[in-house]
Amino acid sequence: MTMESTISKQSLHMPNFDPTAAMFLENPYLFYEALRRVNPVQWVSSMSHQGWFVTGYDEVISILRDQRFQTRVPISQSSPNEMLLKIFNNTLLYQNPPHHTRLRSLVGRVFTSRVINDFRPYIQETIDYLLDSVQDRGEMDIMSDLAFPLPSIIIARMLGVPTEDRDQFRDWSNTLIQTIDLARPDEAMELGNQAVMELVGYFKKLIAKRREKPTNDLISKLVVEGESGDKLTDDELVATCILMLIAGHETTVNLISNTMLSLLNHPNELEKLQQDSTLIKSTIEEVLRYDGPTQMTARTAAEEVKIGGQRIEKGQHVYLLLGAANRDPVKFPSPNTFDITRSPNQHIAFGNGIHFCLGAALARLEAQMAVGALVKRFSTIQLKTAQPEWRPLIGFRALKELKVAYNSYKD
Ligand code: HEM
Repeated sequence: MTMESTISKQSLHMPNFDPTAAMFLENPYLFYEALRRVNPVQWVSSMSHQGWFVTGYDEVISILRDQRFQTRVPISQSSPNEMLLKIFNNTLLYQNPPHHTRLRSLVGRVFTSRVINDFRPYIQETIDYLLDSVQDRGEMDIMSDLAFPLPSIIIARMLGVPTEDRDQFRDWSNTLIQTIDLARPDEAMELGNQAVMELVGYFKKLIAKRREKPTNDLISKLVVEGESGDKLTDDELVATCILMLIAGHETTVNLISNTMLSLLNHPNELEKLQQDSTLIKSTIEEVLRYDGPTQMTARTAAEEVKIGGQRIEKGQHVYLLLGAANRDPVKFPSPNTFDITRSPNQHIAFGNGIHFCLGAALARLEAQMAVGALVKRFSTIQLKTAQPEWRPLIGFRALKELKVAYNSYKD
């Protein structure tokens, strides 16, 4: 091991660092900033985890574009949780070229911008229905009344999953998200394995039905598409459904709620949006940068690589802090200022390179329409809790609830 890496490895030994502590969850950006000041590529060893934590924008992008850094399943290949391992091993997100190229092309062929755009009327109808249900109440929990049900209803409909099974899907998704977070509790893997076994059983039945009688949903399209030429294996098909379902449940919900929290914490910005609804697109982009739902992703060095003056050795894990990169002053002037008119805004909340988020267009559309509708419908909105609580996750920025009171324009 070189002197260079030895020094930097010793400099940030943080045995007591707890990413689930309230102080970190309230403002992880202070921690990121301190880390970036030490080095934008820094070895950290804390509690049970150790690896390179990357907080610099340029460094994160160069790693995401560099094939010497590979994505890997977040679980050991000798794990006793076999079903979880099997599904992870077949998931797009955890595949490297050439497998990734093939899978991404097959899935990308059916999950197109046209399919997403065709959903516009149904998204609007769903938002109207959800907001009509709370209109006269004067208060709601944005999470459970709008931000959660909207993306889960939409992704269920897209995949062709009956909406009545939504509660079950919420529980499965909630269990599974913990298996891929760095701050996972010990029992997460076993519970995740159980949830995956149930999900696999569920999807296998649904896939068999669609194979017999295809409809217009994504599962039918993936099955039919697969019949002409190269096709997804059954395991890949199930893994893709599960990935889409989790992505649909755990990310857009936080984009909608984090947007409302940022706006409510910055009344001048909220007022700007109330006065000019065309700012909705740049508002959502600014929230993706300022307080994005996905804070971290990971890679492993397939060979020795030198980056940001650090030598990363073969096999070492690299944690890419997207939320930190999005506040790097080298890239964004006044990075801690929430400015809904910010331009340019080249955030990397959806990643970069070959794994760039496949659902970015859908997430953007849902968030723009949901937040746009809230701001249009309610003349005043106030937070009911001064400091809403965050879920104890390090890779995701997710509120537990977001209670607000409001007046409608018609009041
Ligand atoms: C605001 C919402 C969302 C955010 C912030 C987000 C973020 C991300 C990020 C950062 C990645 C790349 C991870 C990496 O490089 O390791 C990713 C990949 C992915 N996302 Fe999203 N996502 C969102 C919504 C969605 C939705 C709604 C879907 C689908 C329904 C989706 C499907 C996917 C898929 C399939 C991949 C893997 C792509 C690949 O490996 O080629 N995402 N997402």
